[in-house]
Amino acid sequence: MMRTVLVVGTLLLGASAVVAQQDIAVKQDNLMRGQAKSLYSVILKMTKGEIPYNQAAVDTALAELEASVPTIPNVFATNPKQDVVNSNYGSSQKVWQNKADFDSKVPAVVKAIADVKGKIKDVDTLKVAYKSINDSCNNCHETYRLKLK
Ligand code: HEC
Repeated sequence: MMRTVLVVGTLLLGASAVVAQQDIAVKQDNLMRGQAKSLYSVILKMTKGEIPYNQAAVDTALAELEASVPTIPNVFATNPKQDVVNSNYGSSQKVWQNKADFDSKVPAVVKAIADVKGKIKDVDTLKVAYKSINDSCNNCHETYRLKLK
């Protein structure tokens, strides 16, 4: 009887640890998806003419990025040691092997956002802003993001 209780207890502990790590991976993925929403679903689509230029939407997207990007080092503080189920992208283990270098990619994104703030007036200036911000995002992805499928 005692033995059964112990086994069940261990199984439950194991299961909750797995759930916690999946939660961390999902939180990290959601942060990235949120930033992608601002940069790709709003700004990139406007630069391509897929949606009409809208100053208020540009300003909101930039404000969202401005708030979200500095939280990357904290949100990625813990290694979930697993990918989000069915995700297209995952984190390289290098993130946690070289966490200081990973974190050092963030200020360049913050600066790229600050540099274009207040300067975007039309599609042409938006294109310049998009390229500069996107290059700084990719500067981290090149080393630390893995394509899973
Ligand atoms: C300091 C590093 C770093 C920076 C800066 C960064 N990312 Fe990421 N990004 C990652 C890592 C690591 C992953 C893979 C893990 C994940 O998907 O959560 C990722 C994944 C993604 C994904 C794929 C999400 C999915 O699974 O579908 C998108 C989209 C994305 N990032 C967009 C952005 C955008 C847009 C920016 C810039 C505004 C940005 N990222 C800045 C590290 C970074």
